[in-house]
Amino acid sequence: MDERAELLNIVTVGHVDHGKSTVIGRLLADTGALPEGKLEAIRANCLRNSKPFEYAFLLDALKNEQAQGITIDTARCFFHSKKRNYIIIDAPGHIEFLKNMVTGASRAEAALMVIDASHGVEENTRRHGYFLSMLGIRQVAVLVNKMDIVGYDKAVYDAIVAEFKDFLEKIHIVPASFIPVSGMEGDNIASAPSANMPWYDGPAVLEQMDSFTPIAPPDKLPLRMPVQGVYKFTEGGDDRRIIAGTLEAGEVKAGDKIVFWPSGKKTTVKTLEVFSAPTPEKFSAGEAAGFTMTEEIFVRRGEMACRADEPAPQVGVRLRANIFWLGKEPFSADRRYWFKCGTAKVEMRLEKIERIVNASNLQCEDRQYTEKHEVAECILKLERPCAFDLAGTCDSTSRFVIVDGYEIAGGGIITEALEEEDYNKRNIRWSADAMTASERQRITGRKGLVVWMTGLSGSGKTTLAQEAERRLVAAGIPAYVLDGDKLRRGLNSDLGFSDEDRTENMRRTAEVAALFGDAGNVVLVTLISPFSKAREAARETARCGFMEVYVKADVETCAKRDPKGLYQKALAGEIPQFTGVSSPYEIPENPDLLLDTEGASEEDCVRQLISAIENAVNASDKEL
Ligand code: ADX
Repeated sequence: MDERAELLNIVTVGHVDHGKSTVIGRLLADTGALPEGKLEAIRANCLRNSKPFEYAFLLDALKNEQAQGITIDTARCFFHSKKRNYIIIDAPGHIEFLKNMVTGASRAEAALMVIDASHGVEENTRRHGYFLSMLGIRQVAVLVNKMDIVGYDKAVYDAIVAEFKDFLEKIHIVPASFIPVSGMEGDNIASAPSANMPWYDGPAVLEQMDSFTPIAPPDKLPLRMPVQGVYKFTEGGDDRRIIAGTLEAGEVKAGDKIVFWPSGKKTTVKTLEVFSAPTPEKFSAGEAAGFTMTEEIFVRRGEMACRADEPAPQVGVRLRANIFWLGKEPFSADRRYWFKCGTAKVEMRLEKIERIVNASNLQCEDRQYTEKHEVAECILKLERPCAFDLAGTCDSTSRFVIVDGYEIAGGGIITEALEEEDYNKRNIRWSADAMTASERQRITGRKGLVVWMTGLSGSGKTTLAQEAERRLVAAGIPAYVLDGDKLRRGLNSDLGFSDEDRTENMRRTAEVAALFGDAGNVVLVTLISPFSKAREAARETARCGFMEVYVKADVETCAKRDPKGLYQKALAGEIPQFTGVSSPYEIPENPDLLLDTEGASEEDCVRQLISAIENAVNASDKEL
């Protein structure tokens, strides 16, 4: 395949028995796309097995050869005409395989529909037609195949054309052409007119394919890079954070101003990064990319990196979409689903079905659920904002998949971004209902985290927590330190250092931390918290995420540091019940994170802490 030539993706649609493979096999053979000797080898094989040669075998043989890396039920073949390169995507004809078109036909710009002249228009043909229209494929050629079987009869052809044209018109597909062909005999495939059908004066299949226009190539569209992940390289003082993802569209280079959607956070690309390869000057659509930023902002998987000087994507929580339902259970308003678009995965529910179309007879039905294999125009409501494009602009970012539990239950394209009005109205409740943490979490996209830092007095809890707080807040993460000393001045001023008082001190602090966590904060609690039971109770109290961090430094080290001069006094017996001296400290047996302030520098400890927090915040994102 010529790398530089224009590329067009064509999906072939039709019932297997209608001769799709034969048509494609013949196309490959007649355009010289086959490997040397392939045709002869298959002919010889057929002869040996005394079965008649068929062009369909060719395709099967090729499929087997390139089986690696190709999914079992979606085959692609590559060939080129004089004009351009083609990728032909085969969408198998059975209804069970339709879901593969949601993903398999994702890049199709045009379609070849194959109808068996001896069968005429069948239910599957209609479904495929509707499905193509729902996918936004507007360039369609209808190949009326097996004309040899019907004796190249113009009347048979004309009847099929009349019936199918009528149907396609209703679903707003205007075929570029109808072509009477015979895959078996090669009529009107690579050249036309065929001697068998002098009455036909249209293009051959190949000619028709060449006259389809490619949709603007993705690299000519605005940048769309769904963020796959943010990777940190903390070794050897390297603190780069690399935003990684695959460019669905557009280009990006160092110096480009970037906006992440839906958050709207802005930064500038500092350097492009590739794993063990020379740094390219730019990344283009289709490439796996990575870049560092001049301003270290906090972004995460699911955001879409776009260029500030190019059209922004749509951002919203309500949208109109055409969906094709594949789920075992009906699609209904009283269940929750996942909406996956780009790398975003957002909880979703069906707000309203505007119309359901029975794909075989195109009758519209008026009900609020969709059965398997039905096509529906509906309004979807996302639980938090998502960035997307509209059908007809950028292919992959306007397409989504609906997941029910772990199964793909449907797929569709977004046709309109809708106002949030209704959504807002629905969320104003004049009842006494408090907003729940999970409701807040779904709307803000943020889950709280209690970071419970335990360790001896002087171990470094407050120092580390305060620095982490500063950096997290700077990175856009609401973080707040609940410091033991400070709390003892107010809320806990009635408490001393007896075991009971310390337990009560921890209980109250855990309650306050849990509330801060509910509000979506990263709460850094710095309390000696010497008793493991009370620390476990704090974990139970937190409704959001919880992380026990053991700030490790032994009594000798702490006594040496003695920032408040307390150890000196305690050792002199002036302070009774001093932790580590005259009161016990139960070392955490299995902390979520251990920060060794004796062995590692303050900077290292802060980095470890922040990295663990970011991971936990990202992990909780997955649960959203
Ligand atoms: S905890 O044991 O109840 O968790 P907390 O962290 O609130 O203790 O308070 C510890 C702080 O109180 C120490 O950093 C120190 O400044 C001060 N303090 C005063 N008396 C004691 C004591 N007997 N033991 C430990 N810390 C004390």
